[in-house]
Amino acid sequence: MTKTVAVTGVTGFIGRHIVDNLLSRGFTVRALTRRARRSSNNNVVWVQGALEDKKSLSELVRDAEYVVHCAGQVRGSKEETFTECNVTGSLHLMQAARESGNCKRFLFMSSLAARHPELSWYANSKHVAEQKLIMAAANISLGIFRPTAVYGPGDKELKPLFSWLLRGVLPQLGAPDSQLSFLHVSDLAEAVGQWLTVSPSHNHPYELCDGVAGGYNWTRLQEIGSAVRHAPVRLIGIPLPLLKIIADISTLSSRLVRQEPMLTRSKIRELTHSDWSASNNDLSNSINWFPKISLEHALRDRLF
Ligand SMILES: NC(=O)c1ccc[n+]([C@@H]2O[C@H](COP(=O)([O-])OP(=O)(O)OC[C@H]3O[C@@H](n4cnc5c(N)ncnc54)[C@H](OP(=O)(O)O)[C@@H]3O)[C@@H](O)[C@H]2O)c1
Repeated sequence: MTKTVAVTGVTGFIGRHIVDNLLSRGFTVRALTRRARRSSNNNVVWVQGALEDKKSLSELVRDAEYVVHCAGQVRGSKEETFTECNVTGSLHLMQAARESGNCKRFLFMSSLAARHPELSWYANSKHVAEQKLIMAAANISLGIFRPTAVYGPGDKELKPLFSWLLRGVLPQLGAPDSQLSFLHVSDLAEAVGQWLTVSPSHNHPYELCDGVAGGYNWTRLQEIGSAVRHAPVRLIGIPLPLLKIIADISTLSSRLVRQEPMLTRSKIRELTHSDWSASNNDLSNSINWFPKISLEHALRDRLF
């Protein structure tokens, strides 16, 4: 019998890749959407609703043995925007999963940012959500993934940085020796599929990155860019005061077009943090998952 997974965030960048991976493993997917959609695949059932709409969440998790909670608020100009979706919305979904009586495993897509809740509203909301989900999970086996910066087909945030890098210009945010890490979305999707198919052991958070030891500093990114394009790359440091001005302009202009901004002063503290290196050891040991795509590989084969 095919197993059913309820998935949120399917209309976003990462969720789409997760669903493709789950379908390739033979799962049936119940997918949350805020806008009405028709399915072209018999193994995908769309459920219209939102994390704020408890009735739709009960409908979403009906008959689902597993829940993959990938929906999240990644942009915003005030703390409540992140808290409402990432904390309260996640708890609504956990409550629906518990009440369904069918759910055995619940995977929460957190973020490496949750390691430093003091840095941003987003980071704090993911950290608080993790804590509250651990308390609310009861007899459901909870998995918490903390991926680092994710890129790949469909991503809009990191693509410009990599496109500029391959054109020979690398804008440097933060100190030159900051440690960065990256993860290709297909490796993340594979980890999700793998987590559902083997027996996970812990409910503590798992970090995920591309496995390059120590991650990357800006000079290393510059070297990789130059090797891939066979030409020099200019590293241009963006001073913090200028970054703050850009964030203020972004916040104001987003308000004018009634959209949530990605770049805010809160986000800048997160982006310019000095150590975003990560380790896959816990997850690799737990579910035998190993990422396949390093950033250099992705840049060479244009996998973004
Ligand atoms: N991208 C990264 O580098 C990265 C790194 C670490 C962790 N993450 C986490 O991974 C998850 C997915 O990120 P992403 O980059 O794919 O973001 P994204 O493209 O912005 O997608 C967000 C998804 O969440 C849905 N969503 C947001 N608020 C919702 C609500 N109130 N009710 C129902 N659905 C809602 C969106 O639906 P609509 O289409 O209707 O807007 C969309 O499907 C997030 O939880 C994020 O925190 C991302």
